[in-house]
Amino acid sequence: MKYRTIGTDPKNRREVSVLALGAMLFGSQTDEATSFAVLDRYVEAGGNFIDTSDNYAFWIDGGQGGESEELLGRWRRSRGVGDEIVFATKLGARPLAPGTGYIDNAEGLSAKVIRESAERSRDRLGVAKLDLLYAHIEDQRVPLQETVEGFAELVAEGTVGLLGASNHAIWRVERARALAAAAGLPGYEVLQYAHSHLRPRLDVPDDLFPDGSLGHAGPELLSYLRAEPALTLVAYSPLLKGAYTHPDRLPQDFDHAGTPARLKVLREVARERGATVNQVVLAWQIGAELPIVPLAGASSVAQLEENLAAVDLELTPEQRARLDAAH
Ligand SMILES: NC(=O)c1ccc[n+]([C@@H]2O[C@H](COP(=O)([O-])OP(=O)(O)OC[C@H]3O[C@@H](n4cnc5c(N)ncnc54)[C@H](OP(=O)(O)O)[C@@H]3O)[C@@H](O)[C@H]2O)c1
Repeated sequence: MKYRTIGTDPKNRREVSVLALGAMLFGSQTDEATSFAVLDRYVEAGGNFIDTSDNYAFWIDGGQGGESEELLGRWRRSRGVGDEIVFATKLGARPLAPGTGYIDNAEGLSAKVIRESAERSRDRLGVAKLDLLYAHIEDQRVPLQETVEGFAELVAEGTVGLLGASNHAIWRVERARALAAAAGLPGYEVLQYAHSHLRPRLDVPDDLFPDGSLGHAGPELLSYLRAEPALTLVAYSPLLKGAYTHPDRLPQDFDHAGTPARLKVLREVARERGATVNQVVLAWQIGAELPIVPLAGASSVAQLEENLAAVDLELTPEQRARLDAAH
């Protein structure tokens, strides 16, 4: 395994494995025995960066959210896991009432929700401190100052280490960081956005983001990362939820002229290296000039093994250049 540092504050920054493990479907779609086997193998291979959320996975089988955190709590206890494993969780997007498969009634980012939801996440995970806590989605109803201060209070109390933001407009991340810096408070340092080698159209509106998706890492985020060395991008859904292996899963916003061109180069490089396309995608992110940590899910140990092997796949500069340039 290889490692990199996230965060800057000497008290809270962490060394994390360059491949993070997504636990989103653990305890719901992925049964307990399989989830435990994947977690055990990930840790055995040196992985120590596990991602969950207080709302995983409310959309499966009448769930409420919290099933993934609870499973991780049971796994921690049964394995005697201590603070060598970095647990990241998120709040803000848990539905206030069960019943829909979409985030249309979210808890939001008020100071009260931040305090209460973080405490419930700590209980479910069975930890005294959340190593990394993200604002999962924006809350435009609450003044940003309140959100910034709400998170900072938990860091000051020692119940949260690092802060992150996911699926936010970049201007709101920057504004929140500027408010925090001006007040001498900790700000978001880890940004979690969807990022893979294939790129979606960014102008396709959905119910959550009428101006086009805010969840994908676009040029503005990459430019922000380049300018701010304190930031890390955690790239979610790097394998496009299995779409490289099952092309029928490719969402509609990837249906454009750039997709076949990028797939062609991915397949060429995979052939040259005797690797799979999934491994080339992960290796391309891990070896990038910008600090990118792919956050991949796995529903079996075999999938995890394939993904772990990407850590040792070093692409040549020429292969990287071809992958970067394809469009
Ligand atoms: N911040 C956010 O809003 C947000 C949103 C989504 C996800 N996330 C985080 O990101 C993590 C990963 O995201 P994700 O699950 O959406 O996408 P992903 O990592 O791109 O895809 C994972 C899925 O792809 C398939 N897969 C994985 N490895 C494979 C392999 N080697 N070969 C073939 N298929 C493979 C499996 O699905 P099958 O078994 O069905 O084939 C697996 O469940 C989540 O667990 C969560 O922690 C965050």
